[in-house]
Amino acid sequence: MVQYTDDLKEEIRSANDIVDVISQYVTLKRSGRNFFGLCPFHKEKSPSFSVSADRQYFHCFGCHKGGDVFTFISEVERVSFKEALEILAERARIELPTSQNAEFNKTQYLKDRMYKINAETTIFYHERLYKPLAKIAQDYVKQRKLDNNTLKAFKIGYSGEYNELYKHLKAQGFKDEEILATGLVNKNDRGEFIDRYRKRLMFPIMDVSGKVIAFGGRKLEQNEKLAKYINSNENLVYSKKKHLFGLNLAKQSDSKRIILVEGYMDAISLYQRGFDNVVASLGTALTEEQGRLLRKYCEQVIISYDSDSAGQEAIMRGLGILEAQGCDARVLQMEGAKDPDEYVIKYGSGRFNMLVDKAISLVEFKIKMLKNKYNLENANDKIRFLKEITQILSNVSNKIEREIYIDHIADEYNISREAIYAEVNKALYSEKVTDKVLIKPVVKEPKSVEISPAVIKRENMIIYLLINHFRESFEHIVTHITLDDFKVEENKIIFEKILESPAEDSEKILQVIANIEDPAIQSHVSEILVTDYEISSVEKCIEDVVTIYNKDRLTNRKFEIIKMLDNSSAYTKEEVAKLEKELNEVIIELAKKK
Ligand code: UTP
Ligand code: MN
Repeated sequence: MVQYTDDLKEEIRSANDIVDVISQYVTLKRSGRNFFGLCPFHKEKSPSFSVSADRQYFHCFGCHKGGDVFTFISEVERVSFKEALEILAERARIELPTSQNAEFNKTQYLKDRMYKINAETTIFYHERLYKPLAKIAQDYVKQRKLDNNTLKAFKIGYSGEYNELYKHLKAQGFKDEEILATGLVNKNDRGEFIDRYRKRLMFPIMDVSGKVIAFGGRKLEQNEKLAKYINSNENLVYSKKKHLFGLNLAKQSDSKRIILVEGYMDAISLYQRGFDNVVASLGTALTEEQGRLLRKYCEQVIISYDSDSAGQEAIMRGLGILEAQGCDARVLQMEGAKDPDEYVIKYGSGRFNMLVDKAISLVEFKIKMLKNKYNLENANDKIRFLKEITQILSNVSNKIEREIYIDHIADEYNISREAIYAEVNKALYSEKVTDKVLIKPVVKEPKSVEISPAVIKRENMIIYLLINHFRESFEHIVTHITLDDFKVEENKIIFEKILESPAEDSEKILQVIANIEDPAIQSHVSEILVTDYEISSVEKCIEDVVTIYNKDRLTNRKFEIIKMLDNSSAYTKEEVAKLEKELNEVIIELAKKK
């Protein structure tokens, strides 16, 4: 029997967005960080089934089932974990290895070589940017005001002439067929190998994990005949519609929103000026896959496309895609510059930030577009305008939101509220639209009576911190909290796993935990992941938790010593003196912590 590798499991997992997969079985609605719906595993009238898009976990607060996308499929389809994996591989069109499948291993090997070539090429181009022969590129980055930190963060480079890259890669031991597969080098009719990118400013495109999968190269010469940008074609490791430029950096941002721009330069320029949450769709229409990626890494998307008409068209499409997936999408409105790069250079990051905060919703954007189409001074146009906005408004399912828009439109366009209400109601009743009310999930009863809810919550929060803020919390937590401190069995097991694993970031931690094949653990983890602990400062939260444990430890020791001293005849004089001294110290420590 074939064993699937962890890498393959991860590939399948990341190709199957959990919100998407579950949406095929359950109607989900977004509320805050999570999506909610009626649990498919038990009968219920109000939704207690929760799905976390950013953590890719589900949990039901009613029946306590929970886990990752594999658990979901195996539960809902009543199949084994392995079969669930196969169903999801099929869904994502990922080929699985079979014992006779030599072809599979060959493909995996080639992919691996291509990643290595991309990584090598990135370094080659980047280092070349700093050499004397790259003067034209150095002047250009100066002119575009890119500083050295930015060049490093995005690994920007300068491509060589003729076949420099090819020669370099050959010297590194890569084979012709491997090099050609990346598209970085082409073979001409005469059988010569020529670099695809020559004398261009190079932008490596990375996947979410930071692996280079493609390149974009901007021309530096004024030559009209040259395309402004050349980009990698689709290949074994690069599928244009599935990636967003800059997401590897943006996903690390603390911000709940992501700013979506069109061009490499917009993303890079904003990043340099303090916006660490920017991604670029690279001039093409936003795809559903990209929408899903965005949904996974943020709660709100701010579309900030170029202010030309092509940009405005693209906004409408992008908004539609994002809203259909339950994203809160907004449009940034910019005047006085053609794109975010120009704007932020001209007016500064403070003003751009204000535009981000003032970004408008899809409904407002649509209405604004309509207003441009009609002449509202003309009575006929005004009636048509009213008809069209009615259509838009009746699709807003939230009643309060709808009323806010109606008020706003009535004021702004001088149309009576009653007239708008009448039209909207007509449209609503003919379509029988009902408002689905979301009910907050009921918090689960503690499993064991002996452990207090406060302790459970505190322990769960530690696990939450380790999963979501691994880098900031790990050191601190392990130096102050030990395995024995954990009272809840599930937490103990999870903590032990985390201690054993050499993981260095949150993604990896989650993988480690996902591999514990115990339904009780998975249910417990999923509950933690979908709970909102409302942490405003991660640092402070870690500090507080650690303090509580230290205090508990001191208090326990205090009572232990007091008990021992009560029974002082069992100890020598020296021992008693030592205990008394320690008791003093403990009491002082405790006092300091109050
Ligand atoms: P822009 O023309 O707005 O480019 O195209 P830009 O990134 O802002 O660059 P500058 O500021 O003019 O130097 C937006 C995106 O469309 C894609 C690129 O991904 C670009 O970043 N594009 C544009 C191409 O792929 N090919 C082209 O010829 C032009
Ligand atoms: Mn531009």
